[in-house]
Amino acid sequence: MSTFTTTKQLEDQRQIIHTNENIYEALKNRTADLAVVGLGYVGLPVALEFARHFSVLGFDINEKRVEMMNNSEDPSGELKRTAFDNKEIRFSWKEEQLAEAKFFVVAVPTPIDKQNQPDLRILKSATTSVAKALKKGDYVVFESTVYPGCTEEVCVPILEQISGLQFNVDFKVGYSPERINPGDKTNTVDKIVKIVSGSDDESLENIANVYRSIITAGIHCAPTIKVAEAAKIVENTQRDVNIALMNELSMIFEKMGVNTFDVLEAAGTKWNFLKFYPGLVGGHCIGVDPYYLINKAIRIGHNPILISAGRSVNDGMPAKIANKIINELKTRGQKVSTARVLVMGTTFKENVTDIRNSKAADIILELKKSCNDVTVVDSWANTGEMKDHYGIEMTEEATGIYDAIVVAVSHETYVNMETEEYLNLMTEDGFIMDVKGILKNKIESEDYFSL
Ligand SMILES: NC(=O)c1ccc[n+]([C@@H]2O[C@H](COP(=O)([O-])OP(=O)(O)OC[C@H]3O[C@@H](n4cnc5c(N)ncnc54)[C@H](O)[C@@H]3O)[C@@H](O)[C@H]2O)c1
Repeated sequence: MSTFTTTKQLEDQRQIIHTNENIYEALKNRTADLAVVGLGYVGLPVALEFARHFSVLGFDINEKRVEMMNNSEDPSGELKRTAFDNKEIRFSWKEEQLAEAKFFVVAVPTPIDKQNQPDLRILKSATTSVAKALKKGDYVVFESTVYPGCTEEVCVPILEQISGLQFNVDFKVGYSPERINPGDKTNTVDKIVKIVSGSDDESLENIANVYRSIITAGIHCAPTIKVAEAAKIVENTQRDVNIALMNELSMIFEKMGVNTFDVLEAAGTKWNFLKFYPGLVGGHCIGVDPYYLINKAIRIGHNPILISAGRSVNDGMPAKIANKIINELKTRGQKVSTARVLVMGTTFKENVTDIRNSKAADIILELKKSCNDVTVVDSWANTGEMKDHYGIEMTEEATGIYDAIVVAVSHETYVNMETEEYLNLMTEDGFIMDVKGILKNKIESEDYFSL
């Protein structure tokens, strides 16, 4: 297959209508290629799964990341080198190569801006790249998390305007949310039921068949694109609101001198009690997606009080935890500015390298406003990234003893540490703030705090 397609060739290809084989058969018979646009935590594993069955082009605008993938390295640090073995895949950052594909899967980030509003610039830019390559008979499936309606209201017009082609006549669109869980080696992409949707019956059938090739857990066909978009947002909003409830309970129980984890253990013995725990909600999914729903709800005339309150409770947790630590230092007669504080864990969740939207980082930044001696360790996080992203210096390991230890992330290494090892890091008057409750019942209660 050529690596460069001229405008004339692209125009010619746009005239081709595959009358004999549908898109799924074309992919299966290798008469059409599948392109995955955006090869991050979501896109790369999906692309590699597709590459077991189809001829795949992995496209990403980041040349450095593409170079790594060409060397069988996952830039996100989730996959082993062997994941690239025996796959029919080529990686490129050259936009013109997208013209080689007929089935596009878009998996680019959909973040929020500083005002917590959806920032669709990356999605629009990736859609523009696909639109330039779009031909008659092509399919575009979006996997990026968006608010209900975004695919048809924002992406389809870009595809139509730039390609000059007509939606549902010349090309079809679908939406299939990604439910991958970073750091989870059990529920890998193929083992999670995949929701699929299409812009009409024919596209739904083809898209379902394409995903059925790679998903062993099964396919759920949503009746419309909007339903599929909403399903993903609701999954994460439900988690966010429930964790917010637990966080609020933890504030109430703290005032009562009751341990929240003890309460939840007791309440959890009822068959229908939902097992949620207090904690930090960071990362680019649970702490972000509800804002997409909030934005859309407000624009259509509904003020989502509960969902907004959940966001505000969860976003406020880092400051609350930092204040608790500072107040405890004061209570113990420590001079806050010179007290030695150790923070263990900086990633947005346990056992991942991802530091984006890390609430552990927010605790550190809050502490640093009052404490001059904050040591930060995390063997998962990249030292350079922490410095660039948050201006936080990390050290390789804890040295000496500390007046306060904050276990902010429940990395396996911290869970497996002996209680003695924690105690050896603590001054006589020191205490531990165990954000995730991993040391519950292991440390003397007067030296121990959790949510
Ligand atoms: N990470 C998760 O656990 C997860 C889970 C479910 C859903 N999602 C959703 O999936 C989407 C992708 O998230 P992610 O975590 O994989 O993002 P990511 O940041 O890990 O990766 C995105 C990739 O897209 C590339 N990219 C950016 N702009 C591009 C463009 N215009 N064209 C081509 N490539 C481009 C980047 O270089 C990067 O390699 C988001 O909408 C996210 O909300 C993520």
